Amino acid sequence: MVEVRFEGVTKRFGKVVAVDNLNLNVEDGDFLVLLGPSGCGKTTTLRLVAGLETPDAGNIYIGDVLANELSPKDRNVAMVFQSYALYPYMSVFDNIAFPMKLRKMPKKELRKRVREVAELLKIENLLNRKPRQLSGGQQQRVALGRAWIREPQLFLMDEPLSNLDAKLRVVMRTELRKLHHKLNITTIYVTHDQEEAMTLGSRIAIQNKGILQQVGTPQQVYEYPANVFVAGFIGSPAMNMLKGTLVEKNGEFFMDAGVFQYPVSPEIAKESSSTEVILGVRPEDFVISSKKAPHAIKAKIEVMEPLGRESILSLDLGGVPLTLIAKSTVGLSTGDDIWITFDEKKLHIFDEKTQKRLGLPKHVKVAN
Ligand SMILES: Nc1ncnc2c1ncn2[C@@H]1O[C@H](COP(=O)(O)OP(=O)(O)OP(=O)(O)O)[C@@H](O)[C@H]1O
Ligand SMILES: [Mg+2]
Repeated sequence: MVEVRFEGVTKRFGKVVAVDNLNLNVEDGDFLVLLGPSGCGKTTTLRLVAGLETPDAGNIYIGDVLANELSPKDRNVAMVFQSYALYPYMSVFDNIAFPMKLRKMPKKELRKRVREVAELLKIENLLNRKPRQLSGGQQQRVALGRAWIREPQLFLMDEPLSNLDAKLRVVMRTELRKLHHKLNITTIYVTHDQEEAMTLGSRIAIQNKGILQQVGTPQQVYEYPANVFVAGFIGSPAMNMLKGTLVEKNGEFFMDAGVFQYPVSPEIAKESSSTEVILGVRPEDFVISSKKAPHAIKAKIEVMEPLGRESILSLDLGGVPLTLIAKSTVGLSTGDDIWITFDEKKLHIFDEKTQKRLGLPKHVKVAN
């Protein structure tokens, strides 16, 4: 178990800045998920920790050790990739045992260790099989076992579940979480899937174009996205974004989105460096009322998609599309006009110029 510290780490490939001045602490025992769109620098960040790339600037510490120039084999780090790359002609037992055979572990001890790891991963009855006789999820477990048996101080995983079907992925997520609870090995886990990040991570670091956007618990990044990018990336269906202007009328502040005006507190209004803002509302944060409540906004139901527990409604707000999640659609039909409101506390307001959130509570850090 160990902590990992990035201090101003930059990695370039020619003109591409894959990782741009990264400052990040991964705490001891953390399950940190590195999340971001394709090409944002996630794999490069992992490879820098594994020692497969060298930073152009900045320092990487693994524990107290400056790791910049440390060779991969001296880092005591295990990496699991998207493609498990098991040895096809070796049994599961030999695949898991392989790293320890290289280290010349005595046979008896080796057998004991393989058994322990296999039990942990619930593959103890598959030890004599070859990889091709296993399902995707089982192969994934073998790859994890091969990484685990070394008892690394740090685990790096690069989209390890992306080759599995949707159902198995969900099962494996739960398994990974349980195992992390049991073993508590510091883990950096890469994915571009925000749902996976939310369910797995003790903390999430969101990257875009090589730049760290925000670090926080899943709840923090969901409830207080630090900027428009994070707000749009986390949550499905995505947060609604409406352009508007902050206006003052007789000492009271309103967000004027053209199709409607909505009151906002002076504290929020004062934090904006410009009056041009983007208003964000999560689909689940609307309230539908059948008649006109104060400040209610009229919208037309264009499409209703029932999902069982809830329904997704696509609304038309005078030409502006809006997505809403409704717990119940009793009495609602396509083409109906409805009235919607939202709780000011659940609004996300961003400065259009800087794209940054206005009114970030003090306890929420954007990055560490
Ligand atoms: N060896 C390399 N040579 C040149 N460019 C590279 C190299 N490795 C990565 N890059 C570039 O660096 C950027 C970051 O790549 P990286 O693989 O870290 O992204 P990623 O976030 O892991 O993406 P994905 O989700 O698609 O795996 C990309 O623009 C990529 O093309
Ligand atoms: Mg990658």
